[in-house]
Amino acid sequence: MGKIAVYPGSFDPVTNGHLDLVRRGLRLFDKVIVAIARNGTKDPLFTIEERLEMLQQSFNEMPGVQVDSFEGLLVDYVVKRQADAILRGLRAVSDFEYEFQMALMNRKLNKNVQTVFLVTGLRWIFISSSIIKEAARFGGDVRGMVPDIVCEKLKEKLGVP
Ligand code: COA
Repeated sequence: MGKIAVYPGSFDPVTNGHLDLVRRGLRLFDKVIVAIARNGTKDPLFTIEERLEMLQQSFNEMPGVQVDSFEGLLVDYVVKRQADAILRGLRAVSDFEYEFQMALMNRKLNKNVQTVFLVTGLRWIFISSSIIKEAARFGGDVRGMVPDIVCEKLKEKLGVP
């Protein structure tokens, strides 16, 4: 069996930065499972089903990617999927503290689960799901920063032209 990584997040919505990271992940892993945390602490704009659909469409031409969602602890999901590692992206030094804390907590919860960090492509380091939503909410053009399907869904959801 090949190497498997779980790339967890809220993906509300998925951005080109996430796509970039998954592409990089596929150079190291045979399969990347992009998994939405169902019990996230954020107040999401899109439902889980809407986010799954956007992920599915965004990754449908990328072999080796599987889209899923999970409830409960990430480390338990990683074991359930028989994955080898958690994949996370770093955009800037400011991401490091939070990511480091989360990786150590996950290791404390299950010492066999490793976290692999990859550096996001430079083009995408300023992007986050929140900043995309903020720009789109006020009619900003986010084409080229998110997959086309996300552009459409944002307009629909926010009722902007
Ligand atoms: N490109 C663009 N944006 C990126 C990015 C990249 N490469 N990498 C991260 N981001 C953005 C995300 O869009 C997100 O933006 P937002 O805050 O505006 O929504 C932000 O950076 C980071 O969020 P995300 O990657 O979605 O992670 P998260 O912090 O929301 O999710 C979980 C954290 C889901 C992985 C974590 O809460 C979890 O594992 N939950 C399950 C329960 C559990 O096991 N908890 C214990 C863990 S210690």
